[in-house]
Amino acid sequence: MSNDRLIIFDTTLRDGEQSPGASMTQDEKVRIAKMLEQLQVDVIEAGFPVASSGDFAAVKAIAETITDSTVCGLCRALEKDIESAAMALKPARSSRIHTFIATSPIHMKEKLRMSPDQVLDQAIYAVKKARQYTDNIEFSAEDAGRSDLDFLCRIVEAAIDAGATTINIPDTVGYNIPHQFGELIKQLLHRIPNADKAIFSVHCHNDLGLAVGNSLSAVLNGARQVECTINGLGERAGNASLEEVVMAVRTRRDVFSCDTRINSEFLVPSSALVSSVTGFPIQPNKAIVGANAFAHESGIHQDGVLKARETYEIMRAQDVGWTDNKIVMGKHSGRAALKDQLEKLGIHFDSSEALNAAFKRFKVLADKKHEIFQEDLLVIANESSACSEIEDCYQLLSSEVCSRTGETPLAKVTLKINNQELSAESTGGGPVDAVFKAIASIVPLETNLELYSVNNITSGTDSQGEVSVRLEKDGQVITGHGADTDIVLASAQAYLDALNKFGLNLNREHPQHSGV
Ligand code: KIV
Ligand code: ZN
Repeated sequence: MSNDRLIIFDTTLRDGEQSPGASMTQDEKVRIAKMLEQLQVDVIEAGFPVASSGDFAAVKAIAETITDSTVCGLCRALEKDIESAAMALKPARSSRIHTFIATSPIHMKEKLRMSPDQVLDQAIYAVKKARQYTDNIEFSAEDAGRSDLDFLCRIVEAAIDAGATTINIPDTVGYNIPHQFGELIKQLLHRIPNADKAIFSVHCHNDLGLAVGNSLSAVLNGARQVECTINGLGERAGNASLEEVVMAVRTRRDVFSCDTRINSEFLVPSSALVSSVTGFPIQPNKAIVGANAFAHESGIHQDGVLKARETYEIMRAQDVGWTDNKIVMGKHSGRAALKDQLEKLGIHFDSSEALNAAFKRFKVLADKKHEIFQEDLLVIANESSACSEIEDCYQLLSSEVCSRTGETPLAKVTLKINNQELSAESTGGGPVDAVFKAIASIVPLETNLELYSVNNITSGTDSQGEVSVRLEKDGQVITGHGADTDIVLASAQAYLDALNKFGLNLNREHPQHSGV
């Protein structure tokens, strides 16, 4: 690999999924993986196969589907983890096994309860074990950002000798400062005698808001892989945001002597898809993909941009996938036009059933909302793919809400549960509350509502409201989604979507909680 190429390793489906409440179903993961492939991400970390049967199946499904990116599975430095990852990745055209062990004094002593020499031996064992299955091996020294430099040099050298081809240096707890983290990478490349036999990678967390800064500083000092996530999703405060890393490197080619192969026009659709699947809205002022990232409010700025765009814009909105909010479809548009528009957004349906489901939704929406924008199509595609996955146990047959000034709102809902029609009425603090209470009185699942959020997809009062509902039951957290121009209906759909997902058992082990 030439030195002017920066490898983009996306971990939205693994570290991103470790964000509390961001659990994804297998179909959602495959859909995101396909979008990442269109984005031309080099490596997709698809999950942690040993964590659960669901994680294993999702990694396998992604390995079966993706052909243009390398598919990677995470494992601790344990035989059972490595064997599970190797099995899940078997169908992949190109695969990578990623094994890790903690190297900082606090992690070795308190978490692993192992001596540095034991950790070193375990790392060598894991890399050699993984080499039995593939020659594309990544080794990560967890909490490298707080590790002793001499020990880090020793373990990295040994991992390369054992067969690791990528060495990842994580700032696991987001503790580093850019100049210091850049210096760490420089030192490692300088001091480790076989450093030229591997690609050096970084994986930065955002606890101090420095994940992108630290990653870029590492790149300036020789790192040639960055691990990142769409929208900066990830454990705690998240990981480095893929869109920011990619556009910083591309926009400042005068500073960085490398570039990625990312197809940047898919950045905004990827961000919208991940936001919609996880129910984590994108803050309006988020760089690159926030709604205001290219909006000019002040008169002076607007005047400048009209005279010469470059006065206040350092990137072109179209280059990162923003459209000019144009109406793309209407009531009379046909199935072929829908397929064509979705393909422009990077969405390809494998089956005609999924396309038919999307077309049906489109027609329903077009009857309520005459102008259909690209944002609406993304939601339609998302909802249509999602409903093909879950055999709904709880289906909404009808809902009726009465909300009058000065009176307590009253809702009546009728659900179909296992071929039985059940109705209930309830009052509530507002129409949504009344509907939720009516549903809860019929569905025999005790859950706690952790989050309810509504996001309007386009501007205008006829916009679709995209609702996310996060529910907790026995420690398992699940997010459901619904979208409609009627936000009470969208809310009921989102609530039922989450309830239906509890049947999918998305529970799994956390890679960093139980050590070697
Ligand atoms: O943050 C971290 O250290 C990780 C490793 C497993 C790479 O996510
Ligand atoms: Zn991480």
